[in-house]
Amino acid sequence: MTKNDRANFGSKIGIILASAGSAVGLGNIWRFPFETGNHGGAAFILIYILCVIALGLPVMIAEFMIGRRSRSNTAGAYRILSTGTQWKWVGRLGVLTGFLILGYYSVVAGWTLQYIVQAATGSLTGQSAEGFIATFNGFVSNPWKPALWTVVFLFLTHFVIVRGVEKGIERSSKVLMPLLFILLLVLTGCSISLPNAGEGIRFLLQPDFSKVDSSVLLGAMGQAFFSLSLGMGCLCTYASYFRDDTKLPRTAVNVALIDTMVAILAGFIIFPAAFSVGISPDSGPSLLFITLPNVFQQAFGSLPLLATLLSFLFYLLLALAALTSTISLHEVATVYLCEEFHLARPKAARWITTVCAFIGICCSLSLGVGSNLTLFGLTLFDLFDFLTAKIMLPGGGLLIALFAGWYLDKKIIWEELSNKGTLTVRTYRLLLFGLKYVAPIGISLVFLDQFNVFALFR
Ligand code: TRP
Repeated sequence: MTKNDRANFGSKIGIILASAGSAVGLGNIWRFPFETGNHGGAAFILIYILCVIALGLPVMIAEFMIGRRSRSNTAGAYRILSTGTQWKWVGRLGVLTGFLILGYYSVVAGWTLQYIVQAATGSLTGQSAEGFIATFNGFVSNPWKPALWTVVFLFLTHFVIVRGVEKGIERSSKVLMPLLFILLLVLTGCSISLPNAGEGIRFLLQPDFSKVDSSVLLGAMGQAFFSLSLGMGCLCTYASYFRDDTKLPRTAVNVALIDTMVAILAGFIIFPAAFSVGISPDSGPSLLFITLPNVFQQAFGSLPLLATLLSFLFYLLLALAALTSTISLHEVATVYLCEEFHLARPKAARWITTVCAFIGICCSLSLGVGSNLTLFGLTLFDLFDFLTAKIMLPGGGLLIALFAGWYLDKKIIWEELSNKGTLTVRTYRLLLFGLKYVAPIGISLVFLDQFNVFALFR
């Protein structure tokens, strides 16, 4: 494929929304609340925001620069910008990470499909809080249902990917993102007006730094990379479709803002409701699915039709938000196979979908029939989540920051930031400082702390 044959995103707003579509997904609405709940609430959120600003933003701009400059898939990008060096492994590692994420992410995305059906048939209403928990546990441990939904979701992703970048990705993001945002606002209103919601709000706003330990730091850092789709070349791949006049720093700030706002709104939906009906905030991956039906039930219990309608719409939008994220993960691997191995797009996509379906089915089964099979005490599902979000993504981010900060020609950085000198750039020095020092040192310190290296000196 030559440069000019490559697809491109058409409009400015389309670029922001496609990138935000990748970033906003289950990471914000499902993963952020349960990680916040596991790690004690407000203090975690503050550290998370700090990670987004100090580590996420510089790495995101670096991925944008690398992608747009090379106009290539993520492995090709490093090869083109650093011919003959080993940096190409950063891109390849990214493709592998994306694979593992897509595998277990599709499982949760599949759960949203099941909940769409349940919402539409009205079977989500009329239960007690314990009833919702039992329904969820019964569903995920069912031997075939969740695995089937995982595969269905991968097929949906496959379908959009085969249709190509502009038609598939950009158009769907343009409608879905704003609609999702409005519904989240409505649900936040419902949740914070539930009885005893105050306790949940306090959990979100009153930080208790005495409980901050290394796992909180690692959790917040991993969540920042996961939620912003960073560290594996996802936004680097999208940036290879950006236009020459796309303002990279501004796009990055917009994406980070949208992503963080959605995550915090999700927190304000989940915790007031969870405290209100007595669900423990550290319920883990089930938190969203056992808490949310209570919001619909409590707020609209007397209007069953409205409850059905709103819950159906919510799960539909959640599934679509997940879809814009799985598309971005799938795209990284598909375009890698297309460009590096000269496969036709449909064929490349078929390979990726098949392998991911296999990983997905294994992860899905690991929560039910295979739950006894554990490694380091974790099920396959939890292991993939831990390995990708907490190790591979921040590790990838570290390498990306080092590559852009220390290896990449400064002229390239300046040209990409200023769109070849047509913009005045105020962020150049700050960005370079972030890439050279703040991100690499910050990520390394959290890793060292997690693996208890500092304890040796105490
Ligand atoms: N960021 C997405 C979410 O929050 C998930 C995702 C898409 C992702 N692409 C990624 C995570 C790349 C890590 C890396 O749901």
